[in-house]
Amino acid sequence: MTTLAILTAAGSGTRLGRDVPKALVEVDGLPLVVHAARRLAGSGVVDALVVTSPPGMAGLVAGVLADDPLVGVPVRVVDGGATRQASVAAALAVAGPDDDVVLVHDAARPFAPAALVRRVVAAVRAGHRAVVPGVPVVDTIKSVSAALPAPAAGHGPASAVETVTGTPERAVLRAVQTPQGFDRALLARAHAEGAARAGADHLAATDDAGLVEALGEPVVVVPGDEAALKITTERDMHLAALYAGDAHH
Ligand code: CTP
Ligand code: MG
Repeated sequence: MTTLAILTAAGSGTRLGRDVPKALVEVDGLPLVVHAARRLAGSGVVDALVVTSPPGMAGLVAGVLADDPLVGVPVRVVDGGATRQASVAAALAVAGPDDDVVLVHDAARPFAPAALVRRVVAAVRAGHRAVVPGVPVVDTIKSVSAALPAPAAGHGPASAVETVTGTPERAVLRAVQTPQGFDRALLARAHAEGAARAGADHLAATDDAGLVEALGEPVVVVPGDEAALKITTERDMHLAALYAGDAHH
């Protein structure tokens, strides 16, 4: 029985706004996808990687990973899809029957520590079929209704406003990260049903655990790590560089 890690790297990185896809942007002279792959491979609990590549760039992505001496597990590269959910589904389709545990991790979180990877896999192997790392939320989060036009008689620039519809108790909120870990059969069923809903006009899921929740199956949370922050904008590149050092902690 083996653990397969799906590493999503097919996004374009629109919000980062560089001239290469985000996963190929470098920190400390290495592409983000290589940093992420090093930590997955270095965890000692991942047997193989499937990486989703921007369409048409699979050869390039495979090359940078093959050239890295610290990515010491077999790597397959597949073309990603139009959404993250579709990319994960494409990678899941090449999982083998022996891959009983599947991790899904974002190249956009290149410095998720090996210890976090081990924590997630250990929880799945202990019998939890869907596991996410989570950290407490520091902001107060509000839900809002759709934006309404501003009243015409107001002073200052016209802008759309939203109406607050609720304030969930902060103590019970968690910001969830990747890698998320799953029993492969459960994740495959969650993606099959998620794809059917996406066809029926639902938005694509932003994480895999959400698809499992939609089945009514339990998802458990293990402690996350601030080093697993997601790189979205240029500001995050500065923060991420703080964690670029040790691939094995
Ligand atoms: N991803 C993917 N396939 C897609 C879209 C995203 O594999 N069609 C991956 C990204 O490469 C990233 C992760 O999903 O590792 C999280 O996505 P996000 O942070 O949104 O990255 P991008 O989609 O590349 O960025 P942006 O939304 O700013 O364009
Ligand atoms: Mg995106």
